[in-house]
Amino acid sequence: MFVVLLLLTGCGSEVKTIYLDEMDLASMQTGWGQNQLNKSVDGNPLTIAGQVFEKGVGTHAISKFMMDLNGHGKQFSAKVGVDDESGDKATMEFFVMGDGKILWQSGIMKKGDPAKAVDVKLNRIQKLALYVSDGGDNINYDHADWAESIITFTGDAPVPVIPAKQESYILTPPTSPEPRINYPRIFAAGQSKPFLFRIPVTGEQPIKISATGFPEGLKLDENTGIISGETANAGTCKIEVTATNQKGTDVKEIEIVIGGKLALTPPMGWNSWNCWGLSVDQQKVKAAAEIFVKSGLAGHGCAYINIDDGWEAAERTKNGELLANEKFPDMKALADDVHHLGLKLGIYSSPGPKTCGGYLGSWEHEMQDAQTWAGWGIDYLKYDWCSYDEIAADNSLPEYHKPYLKMRKCLDAINRDIIYSLCQYGMGNVWEWGGEVGGNLWRTTGDINDSWASMSGIGFGQEQSSPFAKPGNWNDPDMLVIGKVGWGPDLRETKLTPDEQYTHISLWSLLSSPLLIGCDLTQMDEFTMNLLTNDEVIGINQDPLGRQAVKISDEANKQVWMKKLSDGSMALGLFFTGSNIPEEAFSWDGNPQSAKVGITWNELGLQVKQTVRDLWRQKDLGVFDSGFETDVPYHGVVLLKVSGAK
Ligand code: GLA
Repeated sequence: MFVVLLLLTGCGSEVKTIYLDEMDLASMQTGWGQNQLNKSVDGNPLTIAGQVFEKGVGTHAISKFMMDLNGHGKQFSAKVGVDDESGDKATMEFFVMGDGKILWQSGIMKKGDPAKAVDVKLNRIQKLALYVSDGGDNINYDHADWAESIITFTGDAPVPVIPAKQESYILTPPTSPEPRINYPRIFAAGQSKPFLFRIPVTGEQPIKISATGFPEGLKLDENTGIISGETANAGTCKIEVTATNQKGTDVKEIEIVIGGKLALTPPMGWNSWNCWGLSVDQQKVKAAAEIFVKSGLAGHGCAYINIDDGWEAAERTKNGELLANEKFPDMKALADDVHHLGLKLGIYSSPGPKTCGGYLGSWEHEMQDAQTWAGWGIDYLKYDWCSYDEIAADNSLPEYHKPYLKMRKCLDAINRDIIYSLCQYGMGNVWEWGGEVGGNLWRTTGDINDSWASMSGIGFGQEQSSPFAKPGNWNDPDMLVIGKVGWGPDLRETKLTPDEQYTHISLWSLLSSPLLIGCDLTQMDEFTMNLLTNDEVIGINQDPLGRQAVKISDEANKQVWMKKLSDGSMALGLFFTGSNIPEEAFSWDGNPQSAKVGITWNELGLQVKQTVRDLWRQKDLGVFDSGFETDVPYHGVVLLKVSGAK
């Protein structure tokens, strides 16, 4: 019977077809959002230069999909192009690849270019891959269409290749039971304003913390390490802190600076947006603060607990006062709870009438809102442009400055230190003037998401903002996307691989970016916790010199970034980004990819031999005469400290 069937079907040589949108596309990677069947990534009809296609797949650069043809493929045909819903500056390139080689490439395509026809013979190809690059200019609104994509084959249908999930691996050595005074080791506060700083200390409890050399008016709780009070003594004073437990003692100097700029190192803490989105509530925020202390994150320097959008009531009072909504029954009590733990509470608003989430903004109530926040005990404000578009007269710099200057004046008029975080997605090169309008930090880009394309596009795109970072003024490439995230009530594991997460934290540390954890702290696993508690890595982020790393070399798929440190040494990130070379975007043999990445001391302007330390492993690698090279995993990093050898 079987033989007869085979004869009837011509031994499986019958030519069949399958549309791309009929395949299981769960393993198709997309740079933003979700792939859509027979629709654009935003869910509209697939449209390229006005031509509408009924069938196809809408995706977003950078996109990758691989399938096993097992030599049964005949032909791949499609019409590809930039969907009309893309941003005006969208560019991308489509690639069809077989067994490690480019079979067809579109050339750079722009919005408005007519669809290009692909017709590729697949004879004897084992693995077929479809790749959309970002065209070399980042992924902003690059909506890519594989329209009318069809595969002709004989025998078995093509099978999607599901990339092996990378197992997480921990590099950070366990936190020592001995007392350790961690970072930051410099803290600024206003003159005669409420002062609150929890000295970051780890080690086996109980730990006794003492200090000498305080400015008058401040007092230390020896059991918690919380310094509070207020002082009129302007200037810098160095206190000597001693932490002691059964296992030993640590002594470190901490600088207290009164009456100058705030945020002398990048703020470290948590923000509700990347996990809870608009579903944030008082209980979740309180839980985050408690976990900071319980888990030890506070001992590693995390201090800010920031509420993002979604806390505001629908209407102001008759007197125009802004209220919290029913999810935050008592904002003042929440602030007290957070302060009691030695931590700080942040809040969110917009200079426009509405926030990005559609809640009330501070438009025409700026002073009143600043007073309300000060009354509650707020320590940090994220001020998000959103609907201010309706108010701004045009896209000129004075119009960009205006709402931020206005709120600055209000914050200066209240008797409270409030860190001022500007959020307007980088418009008008905000890094060039964010400090002048009084910002302590400013978002440099649109919103991050937990894809490699988004995180790496933002992180590796921070070169031009680099010269503007300094103590008190930081570029903000957005919040961390590790752990359980979801932007709403339903959370899921980040889509970044473990190596991509090491890259994320290393890059943000080198860039002197705020380290604002974006995940649900109640569900952190060991891996996530270890990513966030490596004090040598945090020390790079919190270095008091306040430099932002610069790119030293960019060789196709490898990059080296360098940050100068206050002790005269350098931090170096060796990255294998793999992003520009389509052939290297896939593992053709199924094995994990890696590359040698290196740097010579010459390239760093160093003349003498150097000691090299691996910061994630907290291990010296030796003394190297003229440079250093090592294997770096795909999308991964090796983070080093390089100091002159004796
Ligand atoms: C904007 C910001 C985000 C977040 C949301 C809240 O998109 O960029 O970080 O604050 O608004 O609605």
